[in-house]
Amino acid sequence: MSSIRLKYPARLLLAAGLAAASSLTAAADFAPLPEGKVDAARAELGRHLFFDARLSGDAALSCASCHDPAKGWGDGLALSKGYPASEHFRNAPGLVNARFKAYFNRDGQLDGADLGTMVRNEITEAHIMNMDSRLMQERLMQVPEYVQMWTAIFGNGDINGMTVYGVVGEFVKTLVSRNVPFDRHLGGDGKALSAEAKRGFDLFKGKAGCASCHNGAMLSDGGFHRTGVPENPKVTAEPLRHITMARHYSTHGMPNYMNTFTDVGRYAITKDRKDIGKFATPSLRELKYTAPYMHNGMFATLEDVIDFYDRGAGKGSELKPLKLSAAEKKDLKAFLLSLSGDPVTVDKPEAPAYKLRTFGKN
Ligand code: HEC
Ligand code: HEC
Repeated sequence: MSSIRLKYPARLLLAAGLAAASSLTAAADFAPLPEGKVDAARAELGRHLFFDARLSGDAALSCASCHDPAKGWGDGLALSKGYPASEHFRNAPGLVNARFKAYFNRDGQLDGADLGTMVRNEITEAHIMNMDSRLMQERLMQVPEYVQMWTAIFGNGDINGMTVYGVVGEFVKTLVSRNVPFDRHLGGDGKALSAEAKRGFDLFKGKAGCASCHNGAMLSDGGFHRTGVPENPKVTAEPLRHITMARHYSTHGMPNYMNTFTDVGRYAITKDRKDIGKFATPSLRELKYTAPYMHNGMFATLEDVIDFYDRGAGKGSELKPLKLSAAEKKDLKAFLLSLSGDPVTVDKPEAPAYKLRTFGKN
């Protein structure tokens, strides 16, 4: 995603008063979101499939079951549910701006440049939608509206896994922040941020040290860090969650996983011991809609998150206590909220009904 790492034109940095903040090089690295292309016809088809439960094995779960537009495109739960008879061990992220991420999933399991593979993962993974792609293909080909839409775009009604992953990914690309006060501020609108939020931005870049990891257009360095968020006790107390975690570890060939009772994060992917307990630096955009926070939903509110950093974060982190005053904490929260725009909503389509296909005529 080299496009989002591009330095912002000096003219605008000056307008935002950032060029003056020479104490922190990261400070010059804030930028509004880049423009991204979308193929409107494919995205429209993807919108239908995103809400269609026939994409899951038991035809009861759609993407929107866990990425609900009314819940910031997450599910509002600390730990996500999973496919029936499993439970997830992580928090479902909101999908707004997902297209600009360096990596997908909390441990960076997948490359952010490959949304199609991410969608395939969600549809086919046993604890997410548990769908066989050939079954999916046959189901969708029995829906005349889909065959028609497919034919209009691809020249034939030959619905297959690859095109399904592609169009759902194209829909996810349409989910981007709208009308964000912080972006207007960067664009030179002096009135976009309240006085509180402006002070919060100074703390964020300065005393609170947040910008060393949360920078760039996504307010994320695209890297992995150990902040020591406490384990969510449900992951080991509830067998179905622990089974999903163990299955994730075994899939990635992690050594000694049956004796691992913590979420090791990045380590499961790299098997490099220095990555134990590291998680992807999340974007801080749209936090207004995506509580609870962190990879395991351990913090219910932004106040809880700020208090956590104020204590010097958790076990194994290298962060120092910040000793923020109550007023400074409020300012920091006001700044974090200025990174959220208007709610991103779409019309939820009615799923078109099956109609038995005449074999030999398709
Ligand atoms: C049963 C709940 C569930 C369903 C259904 C589901 N997801 Fe997810 N999704 C999750 C969870 C949980 C994660 C985070 C997993 C992790 O970090 O290991 C996730 C991660 C993602 C991510 C990566 C986001 C990021 O910030 O890293 C994308 C993109 C995504 N899902 C899209 C989809 C799409 C598209 C569908 C439908 C095809 C879908 N999901 C269906 C629970 C679900
Ligand atoms: C050392 C790098 C680092 C620093 C410094 C840092 N963060 Fe984070 N931040 C992270 C990582 C990594 C996570 C994800 C942790 C997890 O999922 O367990 C995170 C998570 C968050 C979240 C939760 C986002 C979500 O969607 O769940 C918020 C809010 C946040 N940080 C705000 C801040 C603020 C405010 C500061 C400054 C006081 C700060 N961070 C300093 C690395 C950092």
